[in-house]
Parts: sequence; C-alpha cells; structure tokens
Amino acid sequence: MSGAAPASLRPATWRDIPAMLAVERAAFPEEPWDEAGLWAELAARPRRAYVVAAPEGHDGIQGYAGLDVAGDVADVMTLAVDPGSRGRGLGGALLERLHDLARDAGARTVLLEVRSGNEVARRLYAARGYEPVRTRERYYRSGEDALVLRKELDA
Ligand SMILES: CC(C)(COP(=O)(O)OP(=O)(O)OC[C@H]1O[C@@H](n2cnc3c(N)ncnc32)[C@H](O)[C@@H]1OP(=O)(O)O)[C@@H](O)C(=O)NCCC(=O)NCCS
Repeated sequence: MSGAAPASLRPATWRDIPAMLAVERAAFPEEPWDEAGLWAELAARPRRAYVVAAPEGHDGIQGYAGLDVAGDVADVMTLAVDPGSRGRGLGGALLERLHDLARDAGARTVLLEVRSGNEVARRLYAARGYEPVRTRERYYRSGEDALVLRKELDA
C-alpha cells in the first residue's frame, strides 16, 4: 500500500502475508517469493525474524524485512518497501531493526546478497557500513551478478 501515514515497525504475523505478497510482487517483479515461501519463512521463527512497517491505524503494510540468525552470523533474507512509500527512510529503518534483532540474538556479523545493478539498495547498504566480500557471477535468473556484502555489528 502507499500513503503518507507514519509507519511503525512490528513483528510480522501470518495475517500480514497477503499484504507482504503484494509488496513482494511490486518490489521483486522478476522473481517474487510466492505465498508458500512466505509461510515457510514465518514458520521458521525464531531462527528467522520478520518485521513489517505498517501505518498506524490503517490496514496493510508499507514494507517488510527478514533476518536469519545462525550463531554469530546473521543473513538479511529480504528487504522490500512498497513503491509508493519509498524514499522516506523506511528501508533504512527496517534494516536497522534487523541489526538490532541480530545483535540481540548474539550475531556479530551480518551478510546479504544484492543485485550488482541495484544502485538504490547498494547505496543504502554502503551508508550503513556494509562492505563487499565477493561477487557471485550470474547468480540471478536474469544473468545478473550478486554482490555479497558484510557488516560487522558493533558490540
Ligand atoms: C531498496 C529499498 C528497500 C529502499 O527502500 P526506501 O524505503 O526507499 O529506503 P530509504 O528511504 O531508507 O532510502 C534508502 C536510500 O536510498 C535512497 N533512495 C531511495 N529512493 C531512491 C530513488 N528512487 N532514487 C535514488 N535514491 C533513492 C535514499 O536517498 C536513501 O539514501 P541514504 O540512506 O543515503 O539517505 C526499496 O527501494 C525497495 O524495496 N526496492 C526493491 C526491492 C529491493 O531492491 N530490495 C533490496 C534487495 S537486496
């Protein structure tokens, strides 16, 4: 959904799945996760942690993000903001919430993969301390490379 209502961040529940699917399809039109995939992600809690940005007092969500934590390494599974709600800091806020959750779960390092051509996401990650680790050539179905990025969490 779009709109200017202020968002708050909260844990995702299964009731959010239809709204998450809508954001997913808008954010990743080439390779969206399907409904079964989102159910599986939420079912994998507590190892997985999903957060939604939702406008106060309204239905729907503006974005969501997911984390996998295994020991001292966490992986950002996904980060997506509805096109109508971008450019207002939600992507950064969701990412920082994932960092808090990773720290709370005992992780020291966060890893993620980003399309090499995704300039907006790459800027967002670079501004928050992510550094390139390596390139996975032709990782995506489209043939685009994936960049693996890493951030060390402060104690
Ligand atoms: C990447 C994404 C989550 C960013 O969400 P967002 O809510 O717009 O993020 P923010 O408002 O926090 O902005 C993040 C940065 O991108 C910049 N930005 C946002 N929209 C932009 C645009 N349309 N053009 C250029 N820069 C833009 C902001 O200026 C900001 O830079 P800063 O952190 O240096 O200030 C969103 O664009 C998205 O869902 N994209 C499609 C899915 C995707 O690529 N996910 C990441 C997969 S690894």
